[in-house]
Amino acid sequence: QNDPLVVFTPSGKRGRFPVGTPLLTAARQLGVDLDSVCGGRGICSKCQVTPGYGEFPKHGVKVARDALSDWNAVEERYKSKRGLIDGRRLGCQATVQGDVVVDVPPESQVHKQVVRKRAEARDIVMNPAVRLFYVEIAEPDMHDPSGDLERLRTALFEQWQLSDLQIDLATLQGLQPILRKGKWTATCAIHLGTASLRPRILKVWPGFHDAPVHGLAVDLGSTTIAGHLCNLVTGEVVASSGLMNPQIRFGEDLMSRVSYSMMNAGGAAEMTAAVREGMNTLFRQIAGEAGIETTDILDAVFVCNPVMHHLFLGIDPFELGQAPFALATSDALNLTAAELDLQLHPAARVYLLPCIAGHVGADAAAVALSEAPDKSEDLVLVVDVGTNAELLLGNREKVLACSSPTGPAFEGAQISSGQRAAPGAIERVEIDPASKVPRFKVIGSDLWSDDPTFPEAAATTGITGICGSGIIEMVAEMRLAGLLDGSGLIGSPEQTGSDRCILDGRTYSYLVWDGRAEGGPLITVTNRDIREIQMAKAALYSGARLLMDKFGVDKVDRIVLAGAFGAHISPKHAMILGMIPDAPFDKVTSAGNAAGTGARIALLNMDARAEIESTVHAIQKIETAIEPRFQEHFVNASNIPNAVDPFPILKT
Ligand code: FES
Repeated sequence: QNDPLVVFTPSGKRGRFPVGTPLLTAARQLGVDLDSVCGGRGICSKCQVTPGYGEFPKHGVKVARDALSDWNAVEERYKSKRGLIDGRRLGCQATVQGDVVVDVPPESQVHKQVVRKRAEARDIVMNPAVRLFYVEIAEPDMHDPSGDLERLRTALFEQWQLSDLQIDLATLQGLQPILRKGKWTATCAIHLGTASLRPRILKVWPGFHDAPVHGLAVDLGSTTIAGHLCNLVTGEVVASSGLMNPQIRFGEDLMSRVSYSMMNAGGAAEMTAAVREGMNTLFRQIAGEAGIETTDILDAVFVCNPVMHHLFLGIDPFELGQAPFALATSDALNLTAAELDLQLHPAARVYLLPCIAGHVGADAAAVALSEAPDKSEDLVLVVDVGTNAELLLGNREKVLACSSPTGPAFEGAQISSGQRAAPGAIERVEIDPASKVPRFKVIGSDLWSDDPTFPEAAATTGITGICGSGIIEMVAEMRLAGLLDGSGLIGSPEQTGSDRCILDGRTYSYLVWDGRAEGGPLITVTNRDIREIQMAKAALYSGARLLMDKFGVDKVDRIVLAGAFGAHISPKHAMILGMIPDAPFDKVTSAGNAAGTGARIALLNMDARAEIESTVHAIQKIETAIEPRFQEHFVNASNIPNAVDPFPILKT
């Protein structure tokens, strides 16, 4: 007579097991992803499954009502104390009695999928570095001279097959009272390690610890630091917060911070201290929001550009300020929170993604992880727009990367009426080609400026300036309305037929809004502003064009705009401006903060760390500064949209 057949869904894994085999044991033998923290003791409830009864033609199984054992005392006790969803059983207690089909719900899977909202984005498969393990430890004995740690290690090996476990002094210091308090039972948070990283006991709690384990994904930008606190079991983001990078007081942009460190002895150290202090403030804020202690955070992943990377690590960025822009290291780094003065759990692990090259950092690597150009069938251009634009172009065959110095114009800096994206900033613009009168929308209001109720709404937000996405639309609309020629010169009232073109020194400015009567600003676009935008967009476009040359193509299949700014850019206007290459509008999408998402993926999935490390090795870096074609493209790209490159799709 055959042993009963056990079929697990959704995996479809199946096998025959002797009567009396616990479902958890069957799952383990078949390699079914069924979680367990307590090792089958009926304490953690992570092993919950839903048996199905009746006919299952798909699996060729008929399941009788008595296909599983009756509830035993352990399961009954768990149910009465903690409750179980109707129809659920504890996989470690229910044993096989006959053919059975068992569903493993997502919350009982370690490697569950976290669904990302965008259609083209990959879902994240959970495979966190840190997991909890409950153990029963042998008590000390006069006849056994072994230490508490050695007996804990033996228990973890015997009960979980975990070996070669390291421990930090900070964790060891608290171990003895914890083991005694738990009456020789404990829950250990263990960093499972990698091929090159030995596993490590990070934190130990007395008895069974039934609280989520947390990790942090941090996008350390030159302007803002954004942190996402994630539950390392479910993958959900439990709290997010951002903070201005306190290094701004040493310089707005990266190069001014590098110069600060060159000109001031101890300047780099000052900036390192400032950014670490800022991060600790942010971590307290996020932990407070989630109602946990910062010491409950056991794993953290950081992504940043090379200069921030060095300053965060306490490495002088001097070499990044001059050719050949050598990084101290481009490899991924595994460090501890204590080494970086981060007030997380002292044994918490910190992972920094690898950098791609001198000016293409771990943030670009994170974008590559999030947008996966290396897995794309079609040729995708990923553009992370910032003061330094980072570009990736590739498909399954190869991926190329470069960075391009766009400068801060897209952030509203160096623009006469420019400002950061904040309430009151003009973010959307249309200019009527006949009357040349602009209508616009400001951040904080849903109304267009020609709406009769707009003045009322604008009174609360104010009209304060033009943000980056606003200036892109403005310049593109000015070109469409004939206020601006292809070389970027604003026409005179005679040439344009608009008295909004006002003589301003030797060139003309375009009047957008005069709020002076109400004590507001006079908002104009000057020819200098146009020049700034031309330089910034030309840098971005030439970077993309150079990558296309190197790839041997003259068009791309799709474009992904990454970064907070990318999310607000109108693809149509960016193309009219000649900021991005020609592509069908519906093939230009925004990925939001792809670097932050990449950090989250690396936090939640250990394999993703290995994956991006090998992807980064395979990415070919192109150095724009030494490519003569870059200059040529830059000159042509200064025109709006371009002096030589056709934009066939845009024209249709
Ligand atoms: Fe913990 Fe079943 S494995 S309750």
